[in-house]
Amino acid sequence: MTEAFRQRFGPAEGLRIWRAPGRVNLIGEHTDYNLGFVLPVALPLAAYVAAAPSRDGKLRIWSEHRGELFECPASEVAALERRRQWTDYPLGVARELALAGFPIEPANLLIRSTVPEGSGLSSSAALEVSSALAFLNGRVLEPLALARLCQRAEREFVGMPCGIMDQYIAVFGRAGCAIEIDCRSLEHRLVELPADIAFLAVNTMVKHALAASAYRERVAECAAAVERIRARFPEVESLRDVSPGQLASVAPLLSAVVARRARHVVTENGRVAAFVDSSARGDLPRMGRLLVESHYSLRDDYQVSCPELDFLVETALAIDGVFGARMTGGGFGGCTVAMLRPEAIPPFRERIVRDFERQFHVTPEIYPCQPSAGAGVA
Ligand code: GLA
Repeated sequence: MTEAFRQRFGPAEGLRIWRAPGRVNLIGEHTDYNLGFVLPVALPLAAYVAAAPSRDGKLRIWSEHRGELFECPASEVAALERRRQWTDYPLGVARELALAGFPIEPANLLIRSTVPEGSGLSSSAALEVSSALAFLNGRVLEPLALARLCQRAEREFVGMPCGIMDQYIAVFGRAGCAIEIDCRSLEHRLVELPADIAFLAVNTMVKHALAASAYRERVAECAAAVERIRARFPEVESLRDVSPGQLASVAPLLSAVVARRARHVVTENGRVAAFVDSSARGDLPRMGRLLVESHYSLRDDYQVSCPELDFLVETALAIDGVFGARMTGGGFGGCTVAMLRPEAIPPFRERIVRDFERQFHVTPEIYPCQPSAGAGVA
């Protein structure tokens, strides 16, 4: 990257390279904005930002992937409007930093990312967090404040009403561990996974146009559920607070669709706890069953799956040595995650690629998911 930086910008004095990982969420999907529980793992796939001070007062951002340069006076960054393109992620972060009392200094940035876009592996949060570190250039922002600032950039500048999971894991990821995040207290605990299993993410290579609008719709449906449930249980502040028994008793007050959305969230929070518990006990078959239940709940109750994801899950489940599989991330395309015995990896790859190609005429990419470190100097 140093070489690429020199070729693009010339002298690389003061150059530092920052990294923030993508993630795969093992279980706990669409629970974060309901203040529940999630269990992501930071990936070896990551966004990298090489940055050095510029001498002419300008901020420049070069995206290798897009082959595009953004440029403006550093002092004007905080006043920029959303442009509905890749620059919204770094510029949204820059704006939030300026608002938080970290003015944007003149600099040249070169962005490179190995997190596939639109894959449900959180390429956006990786870009936000790595850009934030580059803009900060060593100025200290507490890790939790960093994650929340990047989430704000995505919600308020990019315009995506996301939860905290992606930015949180990009910051707090830990090599060798999954991280169970309590999305209300914003505390987490490290979860060591059993040694004799592997996780693979499989990319459908599709991102259905529906994804963003459906996400907003789900967020609104969950809010509608909470409003109705509070009529009977005023202490409820989010779906996180609702027990399965309470939900059953208020179900008649909810529309059929809203009741199903709420049922997914309530049961999914239970599955995160059960998964962590089974992991501690080394109960691999139960872990696998929970993944599959999560998928069916996302498919049938939350309705955020798609034929490609369902096909990958069913194909995986028919392979020897696979404990379970589910869609991961927001849905409507992107990736599945499968839990399997390490020796099953070669036949898994072969069978998944063959069957998926036969069905959809697209070659799915497969990524190993060794839990990796969170953001920092590359
Ligand atoms: C996207 C959002 C996250 C989370 C997931 C679904 O990745 O950015 O906050 O809601 O979808 O679990």
